[in-house]
Amino acid sequence: MTAIDPAAPEWARRRSFAIISHPDAGKTTLTETLLLSAGAIRLAGQVRARGENRRTQSDWMKIEQERGISVSASVMTFEHRGLLFNLLDTPGHEDFSEDTYRTLTAADSAIMVLDAAKGVEPRTLKLVEVCRLRDIPIVTFINKMDREALDPVDLLEDIQEKLALDTSPMQWPCGSGNRFKGVLDIATNDFLPYRKSVDTDPSQPNPRIALDGNSISDALSEEEVDELKEGAEVAQELCPPFDPQSFLEGHLTPVFFGSALRQFGVRELLEGLADKIPGPAPMEAINNGQTVEVEPGGKEVAGFVFKVQANMDPNHRDRVAFVRLCSGKFRRGMKLKTEAGKQLTVSSPILFFAQDREIADEAWAGDVMGVPNHGTLRVGDSLSESGKLRFSGIPNFAPEILRRARLADPLKAKHLKKALESLAEEGVTQLFRPVMGGDFIVGAVGALQIDVMRERVAAEYGLDVDFEPAPYETARWITGDRAKLEAFADRHKSAMAEDINGDPVFLAKSAWEVSYSEEKFPDVSFHRAKERSA
Ligand code: G4P
Repeated sequence: MTAIDPAAPEWARRRSFAIISHPDAGKTTLTETLLLSAGAIRLAGQVRARGENRRTQSDWMKIEQERGISVSASVMTFEHRGLLFNLLDTPGHEDFSEDTYRTLTAADSAIMVLDAAKGVEPRTLKLVEVCRLRDIPIVTFINKMDREALDPVDLLEDIQEKLALDTSPMQWPCGSGNRFKGVLDIATNDFLPYRKSVDTDPSQPNPRIALDGNSISDALSEEEVDELKEGAEVAQELCPPFDPQSFLEGHLTPVFFGSALRQFGVRELLEGLADKIPGPAPMEAINNGQTVEVEPGGKEVAGFVFKVQANMDPNHRDRVAFVRLCSGKFRRGMKLKTEAGKQLTVSSPILFFAQDREIADEAWAGDVMGVPNHGTLRVGDSLSESGKLRFSGIPNFAPEILRRARLADPLKAKHLKKALESLAEEGVTQLFRPVMGGDFIVGAVGALQIDVMRERVAAEYGLDVDFEPAPYETARWITGDRAKLEAFADRHKSAMAEDINGDPVFLAKSAWEVSYSEEKFPDVSFHRAKERSA
């Protein structure tokens, strides 16, 4: 069954989504099982193998090898029921970076993976906050049901309370761990028995047994049937029914249960995605000073860069900019312009299929395309035929790690400035210039970003720099009435800085200092995220 009218325009077939989770909840395993369920890969182990491959291929990121993690978010494309899914892979490891956040700006929806024994964990909370910036719809997959899990009602309450998100269970589980028997499809009242064997083909739907039919006794005891019915009733009483509008507005999440490792429930999740997640939405942009909605079906080819990856191929010093297309039909060889007027002929764009990279001949709104370039494209750049569009929504996030950049050789100050500015423009780290002078302050959301910067400043610019702790814990962009801003800045001279665009930033010693300042200066707004200005 196709999920879309075959006569629908190409762009309407696109489904670009990301998977968000706390480390270890099962994002990688789910990615792989999803690809298996869609028939895009055949053997388990390919997602990791690809990662390994990439790691041994990329030379500059020694960190990647030393830490055994993949730093870069990648994109994988697969088809199912006539839809083209672009899965944007967000790094989920402990060391976290702005890349992950920015990737979410290119997604039209997200799957939130929770470990059934743990519920909502801190990283999930942060990622959902980022999804909230654009209110993208979130589908929940409660993973690891083959292990001892929390009570499903408690799990739903946890989501509702911690994430302020209504939940609407699509299924109800029967037991967990050794007593996990399967899930009830609430809409059809069919029971999907859990099959322990991994030999089953994940691309085939799970068998179903009518809960009220005679055959249910082959799968469940009478007691289990009663418990399941009761559980599903309670869930339906506690939770609102699935409301597509509320889902699309990011207020309600449909909840699926399963085990990514045992390949159970993932095929059903995939069907849920095909049925529910939206295609490309209109994106806001500025054109000649006016805010406009760029429609995915619009004529002009336009998109924005949400990630830049250096040296994917060690033989070239090229960079690949990941561009999310927002409108138009892109054709290979097209000339596109950045909003700053730089022109670029896109002659070898890359699309990322599950198993391979392919040169793209055409791409549509909703697609993510890799554009090799020599440093022309930067994170946050908009690309369009006219060069007039500037997409908003690629934010910088308040850094959680701030370091003072100290040079061993003070005569190299100019070089350092250039290196740090260029890394900030690429989106590796943020750069703050204290208004009273002194050393540059660099900021990052995750510690790994600082490591990457240190490595690159040494390797690419030959500079010996010490990134020592700065006396600040976080930063906030400040806006407001000019006189009020000046009054605030006057009182906090030693903590004021400018970011790379010259916008004022308050460097705070603690989160407490931020709240205190917010109270004391109610006319000044303190922002945790800032959209990149032109
Ligand atoms: P992540 O990308 O979110 O960090 O998680 P990942 O998929 O790497 O999974 C983390 C661990 O949880 C892995 O175990 C994985 O096998 C396990 N896991 C994932 N899904 C399930 C599930 O549905 N049930 C059970 N029981 N385990 C699951 P590991 O021992 O850390 O790694 P590995 O040796 O299996 O690769």
